[in-house]
This record gives sequence, C-alpha cells and structure tokens, in this order.
Amino acid sequence: MDLFQAISERKSIRAFKPDPVPREKIKEILRLAVHAPSAINLQPWEFIVVAGEEKDRLSRRLSKAYKERQISCSPGNVKPLPEIYGQRGRANSQSMEPYLKDTGVTFKQFTNEGSCDFYGAPVAIIICLDDAFSNARMVDIGAALGYLILSAHGIGLATCPIGLIAAYEDEIRDLLNIPENKHVIIGVALGYPDGENSVNRFKSSRDDLNKFVRWIE
Ligand SMILES: Cc1cc2nc3c(=O)[nH]c(=O)nc-3n(C[C@H](O)[C@H](O)[C@H](O)COP(=O)(O)O)c2cc1C
Repeated sequence: MDLFQAISERKSIRAFKPDPVPREKIKEILRLAVHAPSAINLQPWEFIVVAGEEKDRLSRRLSKAYKERQISCSPGNVKPLPEIYGQRGRANSQSMEPYLKDTGVTFKQFTNEGSCDFYGAPVAIIICLDDAFSNARMVDIGAALGYLILSAHGIGLATCPIGLIAAYEDEIRDLLNIPENKHVIIGVALGYPDGENSVNRFKSSRDDLNKFVRWIE
C-alpha cells in the first residue's frame, strides 16, 4: 500500500471481529514498528503481546479496576488546558455520538468501558518504557506507536491506541508480571475491523493546518 494512502486512510477502530491474528502478522508489524527513529538509536520501547485467554483475563482485570476506580480517558494535562482543546474534545465526542446510537451507551461509557476491553480486539499490545528514562523518551515511544499503527493498517489490520490503561498500571503489572522498573506507557488494540458495527464508520476530523503551523521565513 502507498504510504500517503495508508497515512490518510488509517483511523482508530473501536469494534473488532473476534478472529485471532496470526503470530507472523503481529511479528511483521512489530518488525516495522521498530524501524521508528529513537534518540541515539537506543530503541527504548518494549512490547508485550497479549492474546487468547490471557487477553480476556487482561480485559476482565481492567474492567474491574475501572468499575472500582472510575479513572476515565483524559488528556492527562497538568494545568487547565487552553479552550481550543476543550472545543476539539467536545467536537470529537459530539461527532462520534450519532455512530453510537445502536449501542445505547454514552460516549463516555463507550470509550472508557471499551478501552478497558481493547474494544473486543483479540490482541492487546502493551508498550513499556524502563523507568531509568526521562519523559523525553515518550517521543520515541510515540514514533514507534505511529509506525506500528500504520504498518498494521498497511497489512489490513485495525488498531486503536489505548492510553487509558496506563492509569491501571499496577493491575497490568501484576497480571503480566511486568517488573517494577518498567512503566506501562500505552496499549494498542489490534485485530480485524468489524465492518458491521456503525462505530467504525466514524472518522475523526482535523483542524485547519493554519491552527498548528507558524511560518518564519
Ligand atoms: C496517546 C494516545 C492515547 C489514546 N488513548 C485512547 C484511549 O484510551 N481510548 C480510545 O478509545 N482512544 C484512544 N486514542 C485514540 C484517539 O482518540 C484517536 O487517535 C483520535 O481521536 C484521532 O482519531 P483517529 O485515530 O481515528 O485518527 C488514543 C490516541 C493516542 C495517540
């Protein structure tokens, strides 16, 4: 698939078929993901691939943790955000809501409970970072995440990045035997898109380029 086509077509998928993903395909995506650049080529990313019954166990544990602690999807800002970001967030949830009519749940319920279940995907990839690194290395993780989701799209698989799971790091660490010195940064739901589910017809929009770019020449 053409690179520009993959970039413009890719979108987060929030309903998956239960069909398992062959290990070779997952390996192919990961091989491409680690082509991402990283500072001094340290390649600080670590991937844990969770599938089958273990993935179901992970979903159950996260759903239980969400019911108990109710930590929701959030941008994790450290100060109040400028209004433009509030506007974009509201516009996104409002534009997704019509696609959720069949589910009978609110956007908040759908995204929080869905995220804990990786939206029913058969595979969850957990990306970790050694706690010896500073937050600057999140850039490297972000680059690998970008490569991973585009590579998946390129071979006909669907993804949704799941940042919410980082809030439940302790539960994930316990279930997957992740050492204390590794941080859970983000998860990725991976599988085949459920073409029947209306939520997958939603495609998020982007603001005008002029809102992001300042030219100095
Ligand atoms: C760092 C990061 C964390 C995210 N966390 C979640 C999440 O927890 N749950 C979810 O449903 N989507 C999550 N997403 C997906 C975003 O909501 C999505 O990328 C955004 O709305 C743009 O839509 P698109 O991916 O379809 O282009 C996350 C994306 C990123 C990059």
